[in-house]
Amino acid sequence: MSEKGKLIGIGVGPGDSELLTIKASKTLKKVKVICAPKSSPNKESIALSIVKPTLEEREDYKKLMIVEPVFPMVEDDSILEKHWDDASAIIANYLDSGRDVAFITLGDPSIFSTFSYVQKRLKDNYVTEIIPGITSFTACAASINQPLVEKNEILTIVPKIDNRISNVLDFSDSIALMKASRNTEELENLINSKEGTKEIISVENCTNKNEKIIKGFSKNKPYLTTTIVKRK
Ligand SMILES: C[S@@+](CC[C@H](N)C(=O)[O-])C[C@H]1O[C@@H](n2cnc3c(N)ncnc32)[C@H](O)[C@@H]1O
Repeated sequence: MSEKGKLIGIGVGPGDSELLTIKASKTLKKVKVICAPKSSPNKESIALSIVKPTLEEREDYKKLMIVEPVFPMVEDDSILEKHWDDASAIIANYLDSGRDVAFITLGDPSIFSTFSYVQKRLKDNYVTEIIPGITSFTACAASINQPLVEKNEILTIVPKIDNRISNVLDFSDSIALMKASRNTEELENLINSKEGTKEIISVENCTNKNEKIIKGFSKNKPYLTTTIVKRK
């Protein structure tokens, strides 16, 4: 029986293909299978579009196996679990055939990535590895040309408003508000009302051709929007 393949979660960075690490690029040029998640059957995988220039350098590009499981943007865990199970089963098939699978993911695989749900399902039976990527909020800091934290400051990453938010704001010097499309006016008003809030800057589509830096909160809130809040 052939040896099982390895599952490799690769962070592909925030959008600019030049922000792919050398290690990610080398791995993408040799794995047999690429798994590129996307949010709907009719949409292109964002992660795949980032690594395309690298993959196209492969001599076998046209024959390369690229699987694109759909992970819809819903919050219902029972729906998501089914998609994670199905994708894990497809990946397991390739791993059983001895092929390494690169699961590409936006930014870094350790930050709100679907890769973690797939890895949890497969790690007991297969070797898994993570290749880090440049995460969105550090890319946003670079785009606005500012540090996120200095000295003993505390940076907090917030994916969504809930009843902890007021305390979180009180104890954070800087906040990276991710998944900004879910931010409500309530959150915006709360942040604006907090004493000590110095600066609010949103970055839409950071490092992509249509990148936009906005003072305050984003109005349109495209999916790739992160807001950096500086306090104190
Ligand atoms: C599911 S999370 C994935 C985060 C990713 N793993 C990372 O390390 O950045 C998606 C959220 O990341 C942020 N994001 C990812 N890429 C971005 C970009 N190019 N510009 C701005 N925000 C981005 C947005 O807040 C988006 O809603």
